[in-house]
This record gives sequence, structure tokens and C-alpha cells, in this order.
Amino acid sequence: MNNDHYINLSPSTSLAESCRDMGYSMETAVADIVDNSIAAAASNVSIRFSWNSDNPWLAIIDDGYGMSKDELIAAMRFGSTDPREMRSPNDLGRFGLGMKTASLSQCRHLIVLSKKAGTFSAFEWDLDRITGDNCHEWRLGIIDIDKLPKLKLLFSLYDKYLRAKKSGTIVLWQRFDKMESQDRAEAREIVFNALMADTRKHLELSFHRFLSHEPGKSHVVMSMNEDKLEGFNPFNPNCPATQELDEQRFLLEGQEIVVQPYILPHRDKVPYEEYEKYAMEEGYLSNQGLYIYRNRRLIIKGTWFRLIKKDITNQLIRIRVDIPNTLDHLWKIDVKKANAAPPESARKELRQLMGKIEIKGKRVYAHRGRRLSSSLTSVWNRRVVGGRTLYEINREHPLLKQLLKSAPSEQEPQLKDTIRLIESSFPTDLFFSDLANDTEQVQRPDLEEEELKNMLNTVISFLASDGILSPEAIKTILSTEPFSLYKDLSQTLLERRGCLP
Ligand SMILES: Nc1ncnc2c1ncn2[C@@H]1O[C@H](COP(=O)(O)OP(=O)(O)OP(=O)(O)O)[C@@H](O)[C@H]1O
Ligand SMILES: [Mg+2]
Repeated sequence: MNNDHYINLSPSTSLAESCRDMGYSMETAVADIVDNSIAAAASNVSIRFSWNSDNPWLAIIDDGYGMSKDELIAAMRFGSTDPREMRSPNDLGRFGLGMKTASLSQCRHLIVLSKKAGTFSAFEWDLDRITGDNCHEWRLGIIDIDKLPKLKLLFSLYDKYLRAKKSGTIVLWQRFDKMESQDRAEAREIVFNALMADTRKHLELSFHRFLSHEPGKSHVVMSMNEDKLEGFNPFNPNCPATQELDEQRFLLEGQEIVVQPYILPHRDKVPYEEYEKYAMEEGYLSNQGLYIYRNRRLIIKGTWFRLIKKDITNQLIRIRVDIPNTLDHLWKIDVKKANAAPPESARKELRQLMGKIEIKGKRVYAHRGRRLSSSLTSVWNRRVVGGRTLYEINREHPLLKQLLKSAPSEQEPQLKDTIRLIESSFPTDLFFSDLANDTEQVQRPDLEEEELKNMLNTVISFLASDGILSPEAIKTILSTEPFSLYKDLSQTLLERRGCLP
């Protein structure tokens, strides 16, 4: 193309302002910086923040491999790498933007100091300088390292965290201008501290697999104002009552996707505090679903991607999905690393897998529930009260009714207590766990023909008038448990007794 056919139209500096509104929150912004530290193989990440008398600052310092001066200049450029570029398998980045966009989404002044092979350099983006009245150029500020001691805060951070290290990076945010507009400094301070508390929780969840030891995987120690972060694993896998179902795998463009489903413990199975802890802020209902991890970093949690609806009977199901960073284009990973969407081929696979998991986790109950609430006379009644499902013995069942009627009156309370005993000790948790492990294996004990015959005799004596069963009575028997479960045999027995035409 010759020069007549194009104009070199580089972006205006106001792009830096526009990039601030990409939708970062404080927590997603800090996490995006921590991504860089992890990608740089850091063992320690320190997050420091201070209200500093209404002049707050925040710093994220790591001891990763750092950047040389040239590398740091390149890294400060918006769009420092092509998103189509192949990344190393442990890289948490993609767009060449995060360090700049995440930082400047929260503050107007970003300084990055990095040390590599013992030498260090520092640069700054100051929004007021690049988009201010007098300047419209992408002027990256150079920090004169000789004058570092004069920059008290940066110097003290360097002195404390990096002086003794061969390499590492400090990302320093100052001039926060996005704090909710509070009139009073005290109120702003409360907001700032609350943001920090939320950020802590977000990091403990998003990076829990780096914070806790995963065999054969890198481990990172993180702290906020010197207080160590504890990884929060949303699957509570160490609890014996958590069901870890079989891991599933499928391929997407030749890359493996690993799916690990869990069914979290029912509230009856764990202490109240533990149950509440794993509910997390939004509760079980909201937090059920798929948890997508890209290179072990949580991207999005508690969603079914509209594959199924969130409902109370699925609320204990949480499914870990591990995706590699080579499929970002398919999963529509966003700059903030706070969103993803499965491609159609993955949706298909996930739908199939979830079908099986749902059956294990919930469907069986719903299925039994439907049958129990039909017109059949069941031995067990299913009742839902205040969000709890209760199974109770049906006192109106003909066999039971007959038993209660024919028992001597002094035995009646004892009999009623026995029925109550049986239903109140129904082994809900065992039943749930067996179903979760293998639906097909959970069966009721079979009745012998002789036992069925005796039961049939009892009902007939109860329902027949003058020894004759009406067609309605026969219909009732055949729709009553256990006869409805052994329909053919019951019909044969009735025939043999001459009850059927
Ligand atoms: N803490 C760090 N240690 C070493 N290198 C870093 C660090 N932070 C950033 N870099 C370098 O700077 C580059 C730019 O970082 P930036 O976060 O802007 O983009 P990215 O990580 O490449 O992609 P993304 O926009 O998805 O985060 C990184 O690719 C990395 O090479
Ligand atoms: Mg990054």
C-alpha cells in the first residue's frame, strides 16, 4: 500500500481514560495484577494498602522473575502483546493490557518498579499528565532511580521487599478517584477498608489452588498488610461428607478439559459454622454450578451457563472445570479474567456430563417424589415443608390401617411410636451418598411371594365385604404398595383366589 492509501491514525490518549471503564472492580483489578505475579513465577506476593490520611495507596509486590528496563518499557505499553500469541502453559495473561487497565481503572497514577538480575528500573503512567489540558501524548514517565530515596513510599517498599532480592516487581497505585462519593473522609475510609476486605476474600477464592498446596504444582504465599491469605476451596473437599464424584475428561480442539464434580455436604452432616462458611456470601442456591478455572485460577463461579436452571435440589452441586490458556478464543475469556462462556461443543459435552451428575445429585429424589405424590397408595409420603423435604410413613396405607385397627388398644401407642421411630430414623445421608455414588445400586429389598401373599390376604380381609372384592377394591389393591410394585404377581395371586374375572 502506498502512502496515499492510508492515514496513520494512532489512538488518542483519551483511550487511556476510556479503558478505565472496562468494568473492573477493586477485587478483579487487584487479581489481574496478582495474575502477573504468578505468571512471573513468584513465591511471595505482598499486598500492602494504606488509607494514609485520605491519600490512599495500594502496592502489589512480588518476588517473581521481574523485568529488565526494556522489558518494563514494553510491558507499560497498552497492548504490550498480541492476544493471538501462544502463551506459556502457566501464563495467566492474554491481552497485554491488564497491568495498565486494571491499575488505572482504580487510580490515576501507576508506578511499576521492577528488578531483574540485580538491576532495577521504574516507570509511571500518570493519567493527568497524558490526558491533561496541556498534553495529549502517551508520555511514559521515567523514574530516576538515583532519586529513589526521595520518593519515600516507593523507596520504603523497595527497601523492605526487594532490596535483598535478585528480582521482583512493585506495582504501586496512587490517587484513587473512583471511591464512592462520600462527603466525609471517615466514610471514605470505611469504604476503602471494606473494599480491601472484599479483595482479600476474592483473592482467597480465585487463587485458592495456588495458596494451598496442590501436589506437583506451584505454591504461592500471599499476604495483605502482612496478614497471610488462606486459600478458600469452594468444594470443601477435605470434609468426609463431601461427595467427590468421578472425574470426567473431554477434548476440545485436541486440548483436554477436566471436569471434577462435587456434592457438598447436607446441612445435617456438618457443623452449622462449616455449612454457613461454604454457603459463601450468596448462599448455596446461588453458588451451585460450574466453576471455571483457567490454569488453576478461578475465572467464573456458580453458573450453569443456562444449560440447566438453578434450583434448590441442585444447590449442593459444584463442578470444577479446568481449562488451559490455549483455548481462550473459544471460551471468550475477557480482559478482566472475570468471565468466560463455553463454546457450543463444550456446552454439548457439559450438558451430557451434567445430566449424569444431576441424576446422582438430585433427579432420583425428584423422580421418587413424583411417583410418591401420584395417585398410588404409597407406604412413604413425601412432604416439602419450609424448603425441607420430609419422608413420612403413610398411616392411611391399608396394611397399616388394618394393623392399627386390629391391635389391642393398649398396644396402639406402642405401634404408633414404632412407626414414628422408623420414619424419624430414615438414613437420609447414607441414602443420599449411595445415590450420589451409583444410582443403579440403590434398591429396596425384594419381597418373597409368600410375604406378598400374606400381605394381600390382610388387605383383602380389610377391603372385602362378605368375602367379595368389588372392582374398585381390586383397583385400589393394584395401585397400593407393595402390590403396585409387583403388579403381575399380585394379579396372579388375586386370580388364584378367584378375585379376578
Ligand atoms: N509482576 C510481573 N513480573 C514480571 N513481568 C511482569 C509482571 N507484570 C507484568 N509483567 C510483564 O508485563 C506484560 C504486560 O502485563 P499485562 O498485565 O499488561 O498484560 P498480560 O499479562 O500480558 O495480559 P493481560 O492483559 O491478559 O493481563 C506481561 O506479559 C509480562 O511480560
Ligand atoms: Mg496480566
